[in-house]
Amino acid sequence: MSRIPESFIQDLLTRTDIVDVIGARLDLKRAGKEYKARSPFTNEKSPSFFVSPTKQMYFCFSSGKTGNAIGFLMEYDRLTFVEAVEELAKRAGVEVPREGGDSASRLVLDGPLDALAAAERIFRSHLRTHPAAIEYLKKRGVSGDTAKLFGIGFAPEAWDTLAQQFPNPEHALAAGLLKKKDDEGGRSAGRIYDVFRNRIMFPIRDTRGRVIAFGGRTLGDDPAKYLNSQNSPEPEASSDNSVLFHKGRNLFGLYEAKQSTKAALPYLLVVEGYMDVVMLAQHGIHNAVATLGTATTREHLALLFKSTARAVFCFDGDRAGRSAASRALEQALPEVNEGRECRFMFLPDGHDPDTLVQAIGADAFRELVDGAMTLSDFLIAELSKDVNLGSLDGRARLVGLARPYLQKLREGPLRILIIEELARITRFSRADFEATLASGAAQIPRAQSEAVARPQRERPDQPGARPVKRALQLLLEKPDMAQRVQHIDQLALVAQPGVPILVEAIEFFQEHPNSSSSLLFEQWRGAPKGDALQRISISDLERPDYSKTLTGLINSVDAEKEFFDCLAELRMKALRARAEALAAQARVGAMSPAEMVEWEEITRQLSARSLVE
Ligand code: UTP
Ligand code: MN
Repeated sequence: MSRIPESFIQDLLTRTDIVDVIGARLDLKRAGKEYKARSPFTNEKSPSFFVSPTKQMYFCFSSGKTGNAIGFLMEYDRLTFVEAVEELAKRAGVEVPREGGDSASRLVLDGPLDALAAAERIFRSHLRTHPAAIEYLKKRGVSGDTAKLFGIGFAPEAWDTLAQQFPNPEHALAAGLLKKKDDEGGRSAGRIYDVFRNRIMFPIRDTRGRVIAFGGRTLGDDPAKYLNSQNSPEPEASSDNSVLFHKGRNLFGLYEAKQSTKAALPYLLVVEGYMDVVMLAQHGIHNAVATLGTATTREHLALLFKSTARAVFCFDGDRAGRSAASRALEQALPEVNEGRECRFMFLPDGHDPDTLVQAIGADAFRELVDGAMTLSDFLIAELSKDVNLGSLDGRARLVGLARPYLQKLREGPLRILIIEELARITRFSRADFEATLASGAAQIPRAQSEAVARPQRERPDQPGARPVKRALQLLLEKPDMAQRVQHIDQLALVAQPGVPILVEAIEFFQEHPNSSSSLLFEQWRGAPKGDALQRISISDLERPDYSKTLTGLINSVDAEKEFFDCLAELRMKALRARAEALAAQARVGAMSPAEMVEWEEITRQLSARSLVE
């Protein structure tokens, strides 16, 4: 029998919700962010079986078993691996492709996503039959190919184009395509009508390419030039993050940008409008995305940085553009570091990217992008804008203005560089600058304020918790943290059991952004490292106070800081070992000049670290 492609299994797990799979077999009760039940594998009376929707894993404390949806079916239904995969595929309505065989797997889900997919098809077919709409796109310079690339369509003027296509309107209503008229008592109360009418329709896709919403531009004189799908209602705070569409969390064009190349995207251009993205693509600039009529959020940034290391924001050159840029800067500060860069680009007056690229062409436009301001230059320009750097007073004021911004930056080389640059223009020594920074009256020093702000841990770390194990546990909880891990090579040098697994797990999550830990477990199924991972993920959880909820293990506010602290600790360990080895060589006079330089660098890093601690 031919093999099932790995990618299919990973995809299947992404489509599957383990809570549904297990919930169909056991009586699950909600417990905080998890679900619990009595162990199906032992006779234990108290609930010791947990299902985590975020990790897509189950944990059974009384039997020590843990695994993903496939593993559960193998254990509980006593299925083979292939049978378990087939069972899940049946639930998801897809066929299991075989390597070499026919891989056409059709999805037959039935929900708002299907209504949206159907709407895309309907809008596209109406575009073909409405010359006025085609004419409009032509006039704006959009070719048929570009329209096809984005799936651009047309919603005719009628009130029931979609309404009559959905005899059972439930899913189209939930997807925001249809609305119910609610004027009480009126003759038309309860009537269901189309939300988008007489509009050019732009489908908004999630990172997997599924249509999750639409933006529509009026062809008439509707005062709402653009209409966007409503945000889906937020689920209750405790449930998982299954919101279909939220403006602050999605970007138009991201999927298409990612599809445009197999290689990593060198940068993503962030613009304001649908037409900006479309027109840039029309000119061969395929890496533009648009926020959806909202300001840039931190969630946008996190999303961008999953696909690229550099975001270039495009703003109008006018006052409104500057202030939008200023707001984007504030959102960007906590998100940037050495590996994630933001740049800021201002367009000539009266232009948006759509008109500009038509006026000057793609090459000239790319040159403007290359000349975009770095975050530090823009920050410094913003800070020194209203300050007289000629006076001592002005210079001191700049330090005060800088303080809130610097507090938002992560510790690290970028922050140090910016501080050095600010020290230079204020003509303070770096030490004086930092002292002035710290001496602000209302100012609690950074480390202290974090300690105050941090909520109490539910319980202290158990003594001797080793950083490797802890880092792995935290990583499994929040795999996205892998995107921000740097100096993996240094980490890999740490001579300690478990480090190779940790490094490999980090690399896996870097290569598979958006995945949950269940995918890693799947990848390592059957291998010794897979077993080790399982032991680690459940080992320290067997304590009585953990049995209330799984997340007792990890306070999510702290998870990130703790994770990076663990990594720093490991790295420091490696550095200390190396420094000692070098010092031993120096004592016997066997140190080369290169080793001398290395030793100095390590000593500098170690002392910088001890100052922080
Ligand atoms: P603009 O008004 O700058 O429009 O809005 P545009 O993109 O240049 O549109 P064209 O060129 O006239 O077709 C920029 C973005 O702001 C949001 C949309 O996302 C739009 O793409 N917007 C604008 C709305 O959501 N609603 C509106 O009524 C207008
Ligand atoms: Mn425009």
